[in-house]
Amino acid sequence: MKSDDSSYSAAPAEDSFLPGPVLLLGAPGVGKGTQAHFLVTRYGIPQISTGDLLRANIANGTELGLKAKAIMSSGQLVDDSIVNQMVLHRLQEPDTQRGYILDGYPRTLDQAIFLDGLLADLALPPRLPVVAISIVVAYDQLLQRITGRRICPACKSIYNIYFNPPANGGVCDLEGSALTQRPDDTEPVFIERMKTFEEQTAPVIDHYRALGRFEEVDGSQPVEAVAVAIEAALLQLRQRAPQEARA
Ligand code: AP5
Repeated sequence: MKSDDSSYSAAPAEDSFLPGPVLLLGAPGVGKGTQAHFLVTRYGIPQISTGDLLRANIANGTELGLKAKAIMSSGQLVDDSIVNQMVLHRLQEPDTQRGYILDGYPRTLDQAIFLDGLLADLALPPRLPVVAISIVVAYDQLLQRITGRRICPACKSIYNIYFNPPANGGVCDLEGSALTQRPDDTEPVFIERMKTFEEQTAPVIDHYRALGRFEEVDGSQPVEAVAVAIEAALLQLRQRAPQEARA
């Protein structure tokens, strides 16, 4: 990460702050994964990306992966029931006790209703209300971000050949591994993913906005400035929805 914003610190935050469940919402390429990595470092909580979980299933050749592969490469969404069960299992792992970042979930109203019910019904720690942060970036910039994205298969660092290139050609600065491109990061699939986002995920954003535990962040700024804005939004949301047990 380039450090042109001196107000951002990726250093671990004080233990006394309990981040709780945080949703990172937004269109393909707004920077959910990039920003989730910073929150992981800052707060020591896991990133739970449904896209990454599905890609791991594809890489491992599981039955779920075989089903998901064609759907993902067409820009459509995998069935709610499959994704909900994946999240249900992941949330019960012990590393989620202080909080977690849900990246790319929920993505339909049915998933949001499932998650709300899950957090209300199950005694899953931390017993804090979910807060949602939506990252917003204009369409044309998203296209460049998606087609320019490259990923390190070893450490999962995210680069962009236009905005955040690796120092040495096509290899990871940290691992030296050859960077890869996601099969759905082409312009035609991006167009489909954006349609899917407008039709199915935009209502999820409206849902959390209406609940009041919601902030919007301008994702068109440099990554460090977005990180500062997200941290400020999270602190504000937690003050508004204090660290009290849910009823
Ligand atoms: P998923 O993997 O979740 O993809 P996505 O939501 O489309 O988001 P992306 O991962 O493409 O982008 P991002 O916002 O994380 O951006 P990033 O930080 O990488 O889902 C893939 C598919 O899986 C879906 O289409 C669907 O089929 C399925 N799926 C997943 N979840 C599902 C669910 N809940 N239900 C059903 N199906 C599901 O950044 C992008 C690029 O921009 C990078 O190159 C980065 O370096 C660059 N960048 C980031 N920030 C900045 C900045 N501030 N300035 C300049 N460049 C930047």
